[in-house]
Amino acid sequence: MEKLNAVITGVGGYVPEYVLSNDEIAKMVDTSDEWIMTRIGVKERRILNEEGLGTSYMCRKAAKQLLQRTNTNPDDVDLVIVATTTPDYHFPSTASILCDKLGLKNAFAFDMQAACCGFLYLMEAGANFIRSGRYKKVIIVGGDKMSSMVDYTDRATCPIFGDGAAAFMLEPTTEDVGIMDAILHTDGKGLPFLHMKAGGSVCPPSYFTVDNRMHYIYQEGRTVFKYAVSNMSDVSAELAARNNLTKEDINWIIPHQANLRIIDAVAHRMEVPSEKVMVNIERYGNTSAGTLPLCIWDFEEKLKKGDNLIFTAFGAGFTWGAVYVKWGYDGKK
Ligand code: UT7
Repeated sequence: MEKLNAVITGVGGYVPEYVLSNDEIAKMVDTSDEWIMTRIGVKERRILNEEGLGTSYMCRKAAKQLLQRTNTNPDDVDLVIVATTTPDYHFPSTASILCDKLGLKNAFAFDMQAACCGFLYLMEAGANFIRSGRYKKVIIVGGDKMSSMVDYTDRATCPIFGDGAAAFMLEPTTEDVGIMDAILHTDGKGLPFLHMKAGGSVCPPSYFTVDNRMHYIYQEGRTVFKYAVSNMSDVSAELAARNNLTKEDINWIIPHQANLRIIDAVAHRMEVPSEKVMVNIERYGNTSAGTLPLCIWDFEEKLKKGDNLIFTAFGAGFTWGAVYVKWGYDGKK
């Protein structure tokens, strides 16, 4: 029997219309466009600022575009998995809301929480459902409304993040394309450096937690930066070596968009020129689980069948890893 693999057959994306510029951020906290551009590389980010809308709204828009572009009948979708740290509710899952809003009658659905590595893990998890032979159409979505947990009085975090979502369709193939290999890690040692202090089962919401601003992102940026650079670089190099990919064989690196200096350091370590690195951090900031698929959404036109792509990410936990994809179609769908 021929070996079954999972191939990406389309991408859909969505970013909210509202643009939050560095100049506006500089009115909220003591910072400047120059500091944010040189230390982070973000010029503007999109914010979902309409009342009553959460992450599922952006994921639904992205998945709807995906269904249209791939000409998929909603009845044929077997599974939807959403990677997010900012679900609409603690429960039910954001993915379950998508099933209703998209009219998916034959799909089951659940969320995955792996912070900024959510979509990276999802590529491998979704691919394994396809490889089992039991599922034919799997939608994986990465999306976050980071503005819902950003403290806009904290200059160390508020310039970094933005809102957005994007989705891939995974389908079976026996061709030599698709999700070829993955190296994924979690060590649990990152908790003190990147977390939200309250709102979970250890410290449920109370007047105290609200009064003490404990429902926002807490980050020790310098420590996270250091681990992000070394871990993303090491794992990308290991994955390339394991698959006998020389720097010439790699057509694209798709790094998590957390900081342009981290992206540059990873590209430098991989000895890959900047024109082979997907970067859109200047327009969207860090959308957490949204960054990797949003890069493909932006760069889809440039991709060719057979291109070798290395995705890499790092996030809270710590979580990190790299996924090797052989792209499955030419240009835009
Ligand atoms: O996606 C999940 C993973 N997350 C990441 O990968 C994020 C990793 N970390 C980073 O990207 C960076 O560490 C930050 C962007 C968060 C911070 O940049 P940094 O160059 O590491 O700055 P720092 O925290 O070392 O602070 C340097 C200085 C400090 O001032 P002093 O103490 O030297 O006087 C900060 O108070 O920069 C100051 N600072 C700012 N100044 C102007 C911090 N934020 C700002 C700001 N504007 N927005």
